[in-house]
Amino acid sequence: MRKNIVAGNWKMNTTLPEGVKLAEQVNAALAAATPKCDVVICVPFTHLATINQVIDKTKLGLGAENCADHKSGAYTGEVSAPMVASTGATYVILGHSERRQYYGETSETLRDKVRLALDNGLAPIFCIGEVLEQREDGSYLNVVKTQIEEGLFNLSAEEFGKIILAYEPVWAIGTGKTATADQAEEMHAYIRQTIESKYGKEVADNTSILYGGSCKPSNAKEIFSKPNVDGGLIGGAALECESFMGIVNAF
Ligand code: 13P
Repeated sequence: MRKNIVAGNWKMNTTLPEGVKLAEQVNAALAAATPKCDVVICVPFTHLATINQVIDKTKLGLGAENCADHKSGAYTGEVSAPMVASTGATYVILGHSERRQYYGETSETLRDKVRLALDNGLAPIFCIGEVLEQREDGSYLNVVKTQIEEGLFNLSAEEFGKIILAYEPVWAIGTGKTATADQAEEMHAYIRQTIESKYGKEVADNTSILYGGSCKPSNAKEIFSKPNVDGGLIGGAALECESFMGIVNAF
């Protein structure tokens, strides 16, 4: 059966010393706990190799927030999937709405990134989600379906089995405005159905679908109680050990 996962997305926050300190705190908190979910932190590229040295990877997974759409070569400033994997990281967030919105990432680029991530042993945390206008005009289910079809449905069933999905309604990210548990469940059930129609029930049932967008210790329990919500991708609340652990302990 699918795993419950709580993953932090630190975004462009923390210097290296601050990030190492936060990772050490989360690591220490997990050493003293028996969480009912897998816990992952996705951190800036500059932090990966160092944080990999200070955490117990049997209790805390490590991931990047992006990777390049090429394997190597003359792409100044980019960081490739093999580079990420060589730090010890085993996850990578792909297609976050901030990447789609501010850096022009398209489904086409994302297909290349997903392929490179999988080829290098990284589990993609693939983000999808509608903007406010699409929520309001009622097209949100279709928007998310298209993002999944275009970004992932070229994969074989075996490859798709390695994907973690994160539904992040753009209007809920960093706004303090969460989707209600029912809104999340409606979308997550629809996503699972979309996967089932392509890959069958077993693959769909085994896919972890995380919710992201203003998730906090105070609302995580209700959202995670929904049958199709398998955890969260946490932004702001992942930047403090106490609030992040509060969400982990919501399971
Ligand atoms: P917030 O939790 O800060 O709303 O961010 C969610 C997010 O974008 C995680 O990837």
